[in-house]
Amino acid sequence: MIEVQDLVKKYADCTAVNNVSFTVGDGEFVALTGRSGSGKSTLLKCISGLLKPDFGEVKIDGRDIHKLRNSERAVFRNQTAGYVFQSYALEPKYTAFENIEIPLLIGGISKSERRKRIFEAAEFIGISEILKKPAETLSGGEKQRVAIARALVNSPKIIFADEPCGNLDKKTGDAVMNLFLEIKNLGTTVVMVTHQREDAQKADRIFEMLDGEIINENI
Ligand SMILES: Nc1ncnc2c1ncn2[C@@H]1O[C@H](COP(=O)(O)OP(=O)(O)OP(=O)(O)O)[C@@H](O)[C@H]1O
Ligand SMILES: [Mg+2]
Repeated sequence: MIEVQDLVKKYADCTAVNNVSFTVGDGEFVALTGRSGSGKSTLLKCISGLLKPDFGEVKIDGRDIHKLRNSERAVFRNQTAGYVFQSYALEPKYTAFENIEIPLLIGGISKSERRKRIFEAAEFIGISEILKKPAETLSGGEKQRVAIARALVNSPKIIFADEPCGNLDKKTGDAVMNLFLEIKNLGTTVVMVTHQREDAQKADRIFEMLDGEIINENI
């Protein structure tokens, strides 16, 4: 369960997140929508522990992630949460396999267990055929799938995704969206930023942001 209370994040010349509070239940799929600049990415970074807010708290299973020691937060980020970014954030020279392996290496997983988990994740996501290819040679849809496999490979409780379908054509985007619905159906909590109304409507709840605030919540 994610509990966000009175969250504020300011940059030099603007308040990107302005006093936001909400909760997300275990296994829920929440879509964050809103026009460009409304604060979606900043909010996602704050609730996933990537960015420290100025005020407020983010509790995950009762623990305030911004009050954890750095080493504890690193373990949280490795074990509890998976991240998918619009820009994929893959290591270009590494193969798909090596990219997916990174969180497992950080988590100190043995080689045989790493191979097993990578092959399982790749099969689930439908990228078994491309595991040996360097990331820089893959198409956008393939890169996004590798990024999702990397986010899933540690079986996190929560997946945070920032416009995971943003760079994809409609057909590939729909396939990636269906993957997220499958992930949700396996019991994983999903918080996804999206511009696409059609995608947002597949979520359990939609939060609409404007000027750093949640102005609308459709249950
Ligand atoms: N690193 C930064 N430094 C200064 N201002 C920033 C920074 N990142 C974001 N902002 C500002 O904070 C506000 C919210 O930005 P954010 O990226 O969270 O919006 P967004 O809703 O994700 O937009 P988009 O749909 O374009 O991705 C914007 O006014 C933006 O200019
Ligand atoms: Mg954004």
